[in-house]
Amino acid sequence: MPHASVKIRLAGRWLLSRAYNFSPGPAVLPESVLRQAQQEMLEWGRTRSSVMEVSHRGKEFMALAEQSERDLRDLMSIPANYKVLFLQGGATTHFALLPMNFARGRGADYVLTGSWGEKAAKEAKPSCTVRIAASSEVDRYFCIPDRAAWDLDPDAAYVHVTPNETIGGVEFHATPDVGGVPLVADMSSNILSRPIDVSQYGVIYAGAQKNIGASGLVLLIIRDDLLERCPKDLPQILSYAAHAREGSLLNTPNTFGWYLAALVFQWLKKEGGLEVIGARNAAKAALLYDYIDHSGFYSNPIERTARSRMNIPFVLPDETLDGPFLEEAAVAGLLALKGHRSVGGMRASIYNAMPLQGVQSLVEFMQDFARRHG
Ligand SMILES: Cc1ncc(COP(=O)(O)O)c(C=O)c1O
Repeated sequence: MPHASVKIRLAGRWLLSRAYNFSPGPAVLPESVLRQAQQEMLEWGRTRSSVMEVSHRGKEFMALAEQSERDLRDLMSIPANYKVLFLQGGATTHFALLPMNFARGRGADYVLTGSWGEKAAKEAKPSCTVRIAASSEVDRYFCIPDRAAWDLDPDAAYVHVTPNETIGGVEFHATPDVGGVPLVADMSSNILSRPIDVSQYGVIYAGAQKNIGASGLVLLIIRDDLLERCPKDLPQILSYAAHAREGSLLNTPNTFGWYLAALVFQWLKKEGGLEVIGARNAAKAALLYDYIDHSGFYSNPIERTARSRMNIPFVLPDETLDGPFLEEAAVAGLLALKGHRSVGGMRASIYNAMPLQGVQSLVEFMQDFARRHG
């Protein structure tokens, strides 16, 4: 997919008007989705209003809600015994709600492979007994703890994992087998990036601002039997069972976020679905990792089998080059490459909507920068 940026000349330099955006989130969206949203901003379908101005219980919005769920079910092959919820509050709210709903008064196992998993475990503590079943913290979260060494409790309410750690750039490339205990996965930064077998999970949840759409919206895919665990005395607004009963319309949803997600699902289907997207993501990541590994200038510390296809951190040989690298990258139309403050260096987030050409441009820039500063 060609990037439709237009080159403009400013102060004697060529700049891209719409840059390649490597932000970890909120992140790049498919350009065609943004254009459609722009085109429909004032009048959506037959409503003669913006999608933001119509009732979430009106027939047009209900049709969008139903279609978006059908598209998502299609894309991810979600089995019939799972509910799909479109809720709010960012993934962080659900760090707290998951144990309230599924583990009250019980123990839950957490596997830590980075800082988002740590946060999820911390937010769970007021509601359940958190056990750290495995952690790669001693290895600076540069790898995934060997599955054979996980100390899982067969009576745990669930096992929580973060399949892609957005900050460290560590990703599970296979779903861990945790026996009969439900597997709960924070897929905020790798949902829809490749095909997965949903039936291996009890709950999949994801904030929308990377591969789904706009921040605020959170998607949850929950196996039906788990909903029976939700305590009856929970306030309705905190109860997944209540949200499922009401089809995510217990209160006013994030209608614009839901609409954008619906457009992104349609875009994914048009692009060929998750097999095609997964292959494209693998190719983009391979291009960047291969260059980093052979550059003799940049490096990535993550164990090869655990490297993320979505978030690729890398460091330069000398920290004093970080500033010039970021400045020159921005002038070349390559934005938001600064690594998270906790790890430093750089990070290129290359979600579904980042075209291959964006990664090629980044590699060309990195080559040129290394030549001049190496
Ligand atoms: C893996 C992961 N989990 C959770 C979050 C938190 O999401 P939110 O800010 O939407 O609460 C993020 C945010 O980047 C993330 O990358």
